[in-house]
Amino acid sequence: MDQDRVLIFDTTLRDGEQSPGASMTGEEKLRIAKALEKLKVDVIEAGFAIASPGDFEAVKAIADNIKDSTVCSLARAVEADIERAAEALAGANSGRIHTFIATSPIHMQHKLRLEPNQVLEQAVRAVKHARNLCGDVEFSCEDAGRSEIDFLCRIIEAAIAAGARTINIPDTVGYSIPHQFGETIRQIIERVPNSDQAIFSVHCHNDLGLAVANSLAAVCAGARQVECTINGLGERAGNAALEEIVMAIKTREDILGVHTGIVTENILSASRLVSGITGFPVQPNKAIVGANAFAHESGIHQDGVIKHRETYEIMSAQSVGWHTNRLSLGKLSGRNAFRNRLDELGIQLPGDAELNAAFSRFKQLADKKHEIFDEDLQALVSDTLTEAVEHLKLVYLDVTSRTGETPIARVTLTADGVEHKAESEGSGPVDATFKAIEQVVQSNTVLQLYSVNAITQGTDSQGEVTVRLERAGRIVNGNGADTDIIVASAKAYINALNLIQAGALKAHPQEAGV
Ligand code: KIV
Ligand code: ZN
Repeated sequence: MDQDRVLIFDTTLRDGEQSPGASMTGEEKLRIAKALEKLKVDVIEAGFAIASPGDFEAVKAIADNIKDSTVCSLARAVEADIERAAEALAGANSGRIHTFIATSPIHMQHKLRLEPNQVLEQAVRAVKHARNLCGDVEFSCEDAGRSEIDFLCRIIEAAIAAGARTINIPDTVGYSIPHQFGETIRQIIERVPNSDQAIFSVHCHNDLGLAVANSLAAVCAGARQVECTINGLGERAGNAALEEIVMAIKTREDILGVHTGIVTENILSASRLVSGITGFPVQPNKAIVGANAFAHESGIHQDGVIKHRETYEIMSAQSVGWHTNRLSLGKLSGRNAFRNRLDELGIQLPGDAELNAAFSRFKQLADKKHEIFDEDLQALVSDTLTEAVEHLKLVYLDVTSRTGETPIARVTLTADGVEHKAESEGSGPVDATFKAIEQVVQSNTVLQLYSVNAITQGTDSQGEVTVRLERAGRIVNGNGADTDIIVASAKAYINALNLIQAGALKAHPQEAGV
């Protein structure tokens, strides 16, 4: 093992999905997993297999399909969780069970109601059981950031002796301060007698906005795995952002003296994919992947960059995937060129029927939109795959919206092939459209989020709409893309309703049956 290599453990699909409101279908998780594999992340935490049948299936599908990254499932330190994780990972090229138990006084006393020795015994039993089922086991001390260091050293030594090969020290509630967290990691590595038999990992939450700083302090102190998420998604204020960790390590290799194996040019497309699927927009001033991250507004800065880019840029926009959204295809491109470009983007359609459907959508789009970019293809495939399993379909939409008049939407839908028509007024064209759809469907849901993002630049860009619907505390996200944002909105609403019909309404992952 290269001593200076920091392993990137991505938990977008597990901790990221714990962001309030982020929910992904199994197919979407697989698409994100493929983007993570293209980024060359070392470990993909695919989910919490025991949380629900849907989570199990998603972990299994990712384990069965991902070949170049290790695929991991979370499991509490109990036999049933560990066995379910092992079952889901059975088809993996390289699988890992990640088992955890809380180690802080507050968690042990109030949540687990166990004495420290009982926690230690349970951890050892869990790691041994996991090792019997899987050669690669990671052990996490939940709430390590508020745990006592003596107890951490004892439980970690025991977990390594029981067979854990990665020890994760999470700052579960984002309480740590960089120099202090780094010192904790240094002391643990020094004091645990068998620490040389494990890789030390950190998993920092962002409650004080310090997740990336704490993770880097831990790397300086000897941690060689960082757990992070695309766009910093995750429970509450989120996790350390993968793109920030990776680019800090790359840009300041002179200070940090370590490197990762990430293909940084694929960062932006992964960020956009996750943002589109979860409906969590990226703030414009977000480091690395925000729209303004490489924009120079002031005249002095612009002048400097024109004369010599490094005057105001510490890394190039291209190095993280900006300006590489190649013009993919045009109106005259044929089916083979279309299939080849999808292959290059790592998109595999299940069969010829789906390829034909996607190709015919591509031709329709090319009639409306002069230039078709990779992002357009991603959205188009996403729409095609979801439409294939749709119970409700949009047949026709007519929206009238004039200054000073109330907008009216007339919609024709089919529900399992039977046609329905409805008409409604609304406060705006989108509101009228959703109300007309609701007249047909009466879904008894509440709209929690509506967001529109331009997929590419220019006024001919497709708008990508995300709609989040809630029913009895459970949520679902629907997506739709079109050059007409009212049509995109209708598609996203109908997509959410179809997902509900397919049983995709989800509770918060940690409340889902565990
Ligand atoms: O934040 C945390 O402690 C976690 C663990 C399960 C690793 O997510
Ligand atoms: Zn976490």
